[in-house]
Amino acid sequence: MEVLVSKNNFCEMALDTLIVPVFEDRNFSVEYLNELYDYAQNKLNFTGKYLEFINIPTFNKNNFKTVLFCGIGKNDEFNLNKLRVVFSKAFQEIQGKNLNSVAVLADNMLEDIKNVSKNIIEGAFIGLYKFNKYKSKKNENEKITKIVLLSDKDNDAKDGVRSGELVACAVNFARDLINEPAEVVTPSKLAEIASKISNLEVKIYGKNEAKELGMGAFLAVGQGSRHEPKFIHMKYSPSGVVNKKIVLVGKGITFDSGGLDLKPPASMLEMKGDMAGAAAVLAIMRTLSVLKPNLEVHGLIAACENMPNSAAYKPGDVLTAMNGKTIEVDNTDAEGRLTLADALCYAETLKPDVIIDIATLTGACCVALGKVASGLMGNNDSLIETLQFAAEDAGEYLWEMPMYEEYFDDMKSDIADFKNAGSRYGGTSAAALFLKNFVQDTPWAHIDIAGTSILSKPLREFPKGATGVGVRTILNYICNL
Ligand code: BES
Ligand code: MN
Ligand code: ZN
Repeated sequence: MEVLVSKNNFCEMALDTLIVPVFEDRNFSVEYLNELYDYAQNKLNFTGKYLEFINIPTFNKNNFKTVLFCGIGKNDEFNLNKLRVVFSKAFQEIQGKNLNSVAVLADNMLEDIKNVSKNIIEGAFIGLYKFNKYKSKKNENEKITKIVLLSDKDNDAKDGVRSGELVACAVNFARDLINEPAEVVTPSKLAEIASKISNLEVKIYGKNEAKELGMGAFLAVGQGSRHEPKFIHMKYSPSGVVNKKIVLVGKGITFDSGGLDLKPPASMLEMKGDMAGAAAVLAIMRTLSVLKPNLEVHGLIAACENMPNSAAYKPGDVLTAMNGKTIEVDNTDAEGRLTLADALCYAETLKPDVIIDIATLTGACCVALGKVASGLMGNNDSLIETLQFAAEDAGEYLWEMPMYEEYFDDMKSDIADFKNAGSRYGGTSAAALFLKNFVQDTPWAHIDIAGTSILSKPLREFPKGATGVGVRTILNYICNL
């Protein structure tokens, strides 16, 4: 898709559709469009309320085939997050109708044209995303191939367009990886993708090397699969000074069958997406060479598949993690925390200033927060607050969950230091307390995206399917450090 910015001379432009945002409580008057707008208002009852859309054919009376009026609601209730949602839906209205080129009136909404442009493009790219690689019929000719943003402040608009494209492409990269079948995205495939990212130093540890490092918890999870586990370490170094050292850890279970504690069919269906944390980390790492932050950023993924073959780890097994702590396996389906345990120990050896892990960790998080917000926990209030600001600004929702010690009571073990699972209640907090055993004093945050990584129905700017959640929050966090 090609995105251009042009000054506001749409009367001379020949594109398929013009998108026109309209406030509910402000007079609309653009000479060129007044006749059509009267028609929309008086004959089609268009009022401009938020998310009201009317796509009107012009029958060649002007140089667009159709004009799409978009309601953007009340003037003082409007903001950049709503704008992103409006444009996601607006472009979805146009999609599939053989309207290939689209102009957008961008100057009549909010002052900050840079962020207006960013959010228009982010909304468009996120809304138009389709995973149709495996469809035999693709309807390529129905695709939108060109967007022209109309703004008099074209330099600011261009900056915004560029950053909107960058962020949305990162999000969509993660969505692609999550939507791929688990037989395609195996641990080796994740390792290969990491190795191909330019401008990073990448180290891949196979089974034997991970064993030498003492990663007994991670390796146990992967031992029941025919796919070899891979521990992936990516490093981005800035060309200038290093202000801070950040480690990102993504849960990379390429398929979670539950292991010998096998999941029921309905719960297993989405488990090719149990590497959504890893997908987010890969998407972020490949964006750094464009953003060029003055930070050293490490991306870690303990990639493996949780399967129940005859070599599989068993309930009752005792595992030793990289820091020497021992874990009794209570439930082989609580595998994510075992892989993260060793990844967090490895993260500590890098002596970072901050560790952030992102993981589809607990069904309990989905029960607590639904598909609306991700869970946020950690050992450092200021890091948590900073991440919440970054999320809100990026259009993602992060809700802090408690870390009261009592949630760990049910994870005491008679024979090892602790177990990997306990009560069904408070499962999100218990999992975070488990992870805390593998972090030293480094400021650490844990993001549970079990509920938010895949949608079964549309939410905000997202159609159903993988969301690439976390990418925008963490990129925004990195950009503002
Ligand atoms: N990958 C799942 C969590 C999950 C559930 C992600 C639903 C996305 C959607 C995780 O490995 C898991 O199975 N967790 C168990 C933990 C339990 C056995 C303590 C769970 O949540 O039931
Ligand atoms: Mn599991
Ligand atoms: Zn899992």
